[in-house]
Amino acid sequence: MTAVDDAVLVVDFGAQYARLIARRVREAHVYSEIVPPTISVDEIAARRPRGIILSGGPKSVYEQPAPSIDPAIYDLGVPVLGICYGAQLLTQQLGGTVAHTGRGEYGRTRVQITDRSPLFGDWPAESEVWMSHGDSITEVPRGFVATARTAEVPVAALHDAERRIFGVQFHPEVVHTERGTDLLERFLHDVCGIGAGWTHVSIIESQVAAVRRQVGGDRVLCALSGGVDSAVAAALVHKAVGDQLTCVFVDTGLMRAGEGEQVEDTFRRQFHVDLVHVKAEDRYFNALSGVTDPEAKRKIIGELFIRIFEEVARDLGAGAGEAGPRFLVQGTLYPDVIESGSGGAANIKSHHNVGGLPEDLAFDLVEPLRLLFKDEVRAVGEELGLPHEIVWRQPFPGPGLAVRIVGEVTPERARILRAADAVVVEEVRKAGLYRSLWQSFAVLPAVRTVGVMGDGRTYAYPIVIRAVTSDDAMTADWARLPYDLVERISSRIINEVDGVNRVALDVTSKPPGTIEWE
Ligand code: XMP
Repeated sequence: MTAVDDAVLVVDFGAQYARLIARRVREAHVYSEIVPPTISVDEIAARRPRGIILSGGPKSVYEQPAPSIDPAIYDLGVPVLGICYGAQLLTQQLGGTVAHTGRGEYGRTRVQITDRSPLFGDWPAESEVWMSHGDSITEVPRGFVATARTAEVPVAALHDAERRIFGVQFHPEVVHTERGTDLLERFLHDVCGIGAGWTHVSIIESQVAAVRRQVGGDRVLCALSGGVDSAVAAALVHKAVGDQLTCVFVDTGLMRAGEGEQVEDTFRRQFHVDLVHVKAEDRYFNALSGVTDPEAKRKIIGELFIRIFEEVARDLGAGAGEAGPRFLVQGTLYPDVIESGSGGAANIKSHHNVGGLPEDLAFDLVEPLRLLFKDEVRAVGEELGLPHEIVWRQPFPGPGLAVRIVGEVTPERARILRAADAVVVEEVRKAGLYRSLWQSFAVLPAVRTVGVMGDGRTYAYPIVIRAVTSDDAMTADWARLPYDLVERISSRIINEVDGVNRVALDVTSKPPGTIEWE
């Protein structure tokens, strides 16, 4: 049995809720998978889960149609934990009562334990939890007992210990619930009896075995971007099939400072990977010459990448029968898989580096990260010995510095921006803020302003510092960088980067601004 066989299924009644629960389960070293409520009981049984968690969600069990799950799951003999909406659903399905009492609870609430439950262990009589519900459980189903209450509601937790079915009205997955992690761990380890087998070491073992099974003796191609996902995917596949793997790194001239050298160092010198390093700066700058429209830039960069990748692949004999690479590595992560429909096939990312490869280069995809959340990818990367700098690198857009140069992209502007960006990153790192920021970088709007330096008048570019905090890049807040840090960045850029005479700070959140300037 592998850690993946010891799975807990999280039934998704609200995407954000289900995702957070699934991550918390993984943090307890148990493998979790998110499944849609429409899943049939036969499909559930076929997956042989060791536990089932019904997530919270924004709906009421009274809504028509209210999201539901086949009640036959309660007869599988598999432990079930319903959380918030999930607890109300199981209550209703098993014959208890959920009522619109008008006594909803939102935010921090105190619960009192009214009966012993294996989920509570040695909890004190009262503790603080996070609530968010409008309807309330007023009567437990036959065979159940209420195990906790609050000042407002008589049933804040319930169980049928014999059938191992549990419900909690509060949210153990959020940090505001004092002993939430403890509760989830008790459910997973004590009630379901699952060991803490899902670790980065076991992830590597199982993925290496899976890649070997899939690839056999064939050759594999992987596009490296310098980012964490493609790097970890490549390192995993290399561990699995060694020199059957060829990596391709296309230097567009639009990468961050030192990125190409780092990829060379890590993959060629440290891991001894067969690396094709394509120096394509001139082709990119030629193709971008005179182009100012942001979408046109993106399109040109994407198409050129595909052309270059295609050339390399054909040189290596891809599509030419047995000798050429048959497989292509994709750094698809679990959130991409969920977004394309729970458990369904992942769409190829629209990320220009890998998307839209020509059909006649018919590759089979190898996706060694498709079960993993981003934090797990990082842990695996560290375990595989990738440098911290790659593993903890902030996200970087596929089109690179081109979307941070507002106006035409020229070699001179790319040089200036890369040098300024390196200063921002270096100072942010020194200040210990690099990991806590979602992104921190420099932008070069191609306008020139007047300045004075020494005895003379200057007419040069400004650099804008862009730093944001965010969880998922959908929304972002501009980071309140300490003024002394801003000052250091500013004076270093002016002193060290030729062609810049002014530094500004972007104080726009998203929305209304996007993170990148183009
Ligand atoms: P925006 O600028 O839309 O960016 O707020 C959100 C996140 O996406 C990244 N980004 C890109 N990534 N190709 C990519 O691979 C792109 O064309 C692209 N544009 C933006 C951006 O860095 C941020 O993390």
